[in-house]
Amino acid sequence: MPENFAKTITDAPDTPFDISLRPPAFTEFAGQEKVREQLLVMVEAAKQRGDVLEHVLLSGPPGLGKTTLAHILAQAMGVGIRCTSGPTIEKAGDLAGLLTTLERGDVLFIDEIHALSRVIEEYLYPAMEDYKLDIIIDQGPNARSVRLNLPKFTLVAATTRAGMITAPLRSRFGMTTRLDYYTAEELQKIVLRSASLLSIVVDELGALEIAARSRGTPRVANNLLRWVRDFAQVRADGKVNRDVADAALTMRDIDREGLDEMDKRLLEALVLKFDGGPVGISSLAVAVGEDDGTLEDVNEPYLIMQGYIKRTPQGRVATPRAYAKLGLTGVKKTGDLFGS
Ligand SMILES: Nc1ncnc2c1ncn2[C@@H]1O[C@H](COP(=O)(O)OP(=O)(O)OP(=O)(O)O)[C@@H](O)[C@H]1O
Ligand SMILES: [Mg+2]
Repeated sequence: MPENFAKTITDAPDTPFDISLRPPAFTEFAGQEKVREQLLVMVEAAKQRGDVLEHVLLSGPPGLGKTTLAHILAQAMGVGIRCTSGPTIEKAGDLAGLLTTLERGDVLFIDEIHALSRVIEEYLYPAMEDYKLDIIIDQGPNARSVRLNLPKFTLVAATTRAGMITAPLRSRFGMTTRLDYYTAEELQKIVLRSASLLSIVVDELGALEIAARSRGTPRVANNLLRWVRDFAQVRADGKVNRDVADAALTMRDIDREGLDEMDKRLLEALVLKFDGGPVGISSLAVAVGEDDGTLEDVNEPYLIMQGYIKRTPQGRVATPRAYAKLGLTGVKKTGDLFGS
């Protein structure tokens, strides 16, 4: 049982396994109804006008389908896509290199756009707005500014940290939209689809069991499905039903609410070491031996959504539900009685 299970299941780079499971078109993309509808309208309108799609910013926790949607947008528009990510664009020249290879209408996908340097961000503004890029070439006395005219393109950007996007950058997107955790029923559809692609025999209830324990995240659902398949192959007759899924997930210490080892350690630290909070995320990160960025992106949003912790200006605070989860009928501080 790896210690940082949350990290391994949600941050694993998309393997070929994963890529083959990526829905290639809107018709196969389950859930996120609102976002899907919005994007479909945009695509339809742009296509009717023979225009280029507006810039789109997709935000939300890891593994919910941002990269997938970027590819689907390009597919729906019938255009090419180039993919890069914020931290890898170091110099203006890198950006110029990417932008100048685009053809009219193409999608440039920038993942983790919050990690783009301020300097590059400044270059991006006129590129997004006027499809122009002014770059300085040469140094010293020979330095001169060159204006590049770019084809009209679509920037699709993704971020797990919407709060870190500067206002000027955000305002240059025609559409900014946030992906939310999936319901168990939506994830059940995704599990059934993935199972059929991978020729795994799983019944409806088996799929629902995996779905309900996937912390609202398709990537986690696909990874757990793969684990349950292995378990079924070795410990059962290869078929996945509710009991087999339950036994497999229990073996991985994933509980009924989908909380894993790291989630539980986080709640324990918050309640037992920090007396229920308020405590800052960096102290919590040290206490559980995890990177604070991972806690903030992966574990915390789900625990907040599930009502185990609250984020206050003073720091993170455990709710009565967290005490109950740990089997405590929480007396937080003297005289401060929780729950019943
Ligand atoms: N709506 C969906 N329907 C079916 N499968 C999905 C859906 N959304 C995501 N997936 C699956 O989950 C995997 C992860 O999705 P994706 O890589 O798009 O997430 P992401 O939001 O880009 O994550 P990250 O922030 O880590 O980059 C995909 O490979 C795909 O198989
Ligand atoms: Mg991605």
